[in-house]
Amino acid sequence: MTDRTDRTDRETGEAGETAPFDLASMRKHYREEGLTEADLADTPVAQFARWFQQAATEGRLFEPNAMVVSTADAEGRPSSRTVLLKSFDERGFVFYTNYGSRKARDLAQNPYVSLLFPWHPMARQVIVQGVAHRTGRDETAAYFRTRPHGSQLGAWASTQSAVISTREELDAAYAELAARYPEGEQVPVPPHWGGFRVVPHAVEFWQGRENRLHDRLRYVAEEDGGWRVERLSP
Ligand SMILES: Cc1cc2nc3c(=O)[nH]c(=O)nc-3n(C[C@H](O)[C@H](O)[C@H](O)COP(=O)(O)O)c2cc1C
Repeated sequence: MTDRTDRTDRETGEAGETAPFDLASMRKHYREEGLTEADLADTPVAQFARWFQQAATEGRLFEPNAMVVSTADAEGRPSSRTVLLKSFDERGFVFYTNYGSRKARDLAQNPYVSLLFPWHPMARQVIVQGVAHRTGRDETAAYFRTRPHGSQLGAWASTQSAVISTREELDAAYAELAARYPEGEQVPVPPHWGGFRVVPHAVEFWQGRENRLHDRLRYVAEEDGGWRVERLSP
């Protein structure tokens, strides 16, 4: 429980409560094994598939498909949040969300988006830059049907990103929906909910190395549909 004293310390920025670790001295030695141009697959999606397979099987990651999605509004003001990657193939990277949420409102004004997979236990990150397009209603519906009943109701109950007055308001909305659509009954796909497919324009594969001499290889889309690979300084 946070008591009043705690909060006061945090607000006044007094040391002690707020700085239990010496962050400046926290660092890890990264692996020797690197990433070379010769190691790379022909396309960033094929390379992503290789790394994702490793992240999912040997990465010791709680949710390897968790990614940070960054958007910016029409004035260029950025915001980030974690979402789950639900599918990927040569057409792009797909996640699902509420179309009234802040991220979706940003994307309606400015479709440029960045996805970041923070695979820290493997000293890896993948950064996708691209353009987001809404998935078709059929694709959204097909995915919605695979969600657990409770998550389907949750998608209806939530006015994601809107300010609400109390937790009770949310629980009451859910209870009402649960009564209307008991377990086993088909829940319609909410019209305000669906997917975004991020079509990549550039994908960077970052492998941590010793002495901060990391490998950074970036695929950049070419006019003819192919990919150019660039090495970036760490
Ligand atoms: C591990 C994790 C997974 C999440 N997955 C999703 C998701 O797939 N879709 C989603 O809309 N929100 C997801 N969220 C919640 C988002 O981080 C965020 O709170 C929500 O989408 C509202 O963001 P916005 O107000 O910036 O639009 C997830 C959060 C966490 C921590």
